[in-house]
Amino acid sequence: MSRPVVLATTGGTVWLTGLSGAGKTTVAGALQDLLSARGLRVYLLDGDDLREGLNADLGFDESDRTENVRRLGEVALLFARFGHLAVVGAISPYAAGRRAVRDRHLALGVRFVEVYVATPLEVCEARDPKGLYARARRGELALFTGTSAPYEPPESPELVLTTAGTPEEAALEVLATMQAAGLVGSALLPGTG
Ligand code: ADX
Repeated sequence: MSRPVVLATTGGTVWLTGLSGAGKTTVAGALQDLLSARGLRVYLLDGDDLREGLNADLGFDESDRTENVRRLGEVALLFARFGHLAVVGAISPYAAGRRAVRDRHLALGVRFVEVYVATPLEVCEARDPKGLYARARRGELALFTGTSAPYEPPESPELVLTTAGTPEEAALEVLATMQAAGLVGSALLPGTG
């Protein structure tokens, strides 16, 4: 008879990077659903959300984005160091900023998985869920990632997600990557042994 299995974690951070409209928030939500169905709580840290409060003083030039990413990384670390799973979704366009967050995790012995949500610019622009690409193309939005500001793709992320699958399939890929990296492992339900 198979015994019930849930997932366990000692904490860590999953970092979703990619263009605006790439699907970071959607994948993060699907991952949250997947993990909560397996007994794990996830703390979602979305760039857009945190810019309403903690990061409300920041804009979109390189130095403000670097600070935005640093703060997201530090908040994720607070959760991760207490044994929780933090899932961050932010454009985080600069390789150096992402590297700094990874290095902070490694220095503190906290697991870190970088996922590149590699939806091509044309697809993001065609989706344009917030109408921002159209505004940027009309010149109404300065420093817009992908049109008038750079995006530096990760060179060696733990996972690259293409647009091929559904959000649920993407979440399963992320979960497999988390398992491979030791962010989560299987645990027997108490009292079932
Ligand atoms: S990051 O570059 O600093 O990581 P973050 O993920 O927090 O960005 O915020 C990106 C979101 O801010 C976008 O999804 C979009 O809704 C909004 N936004 C507003 N202006 C810009 C801009 N110039 N470039 C990119 N995103 C922008």
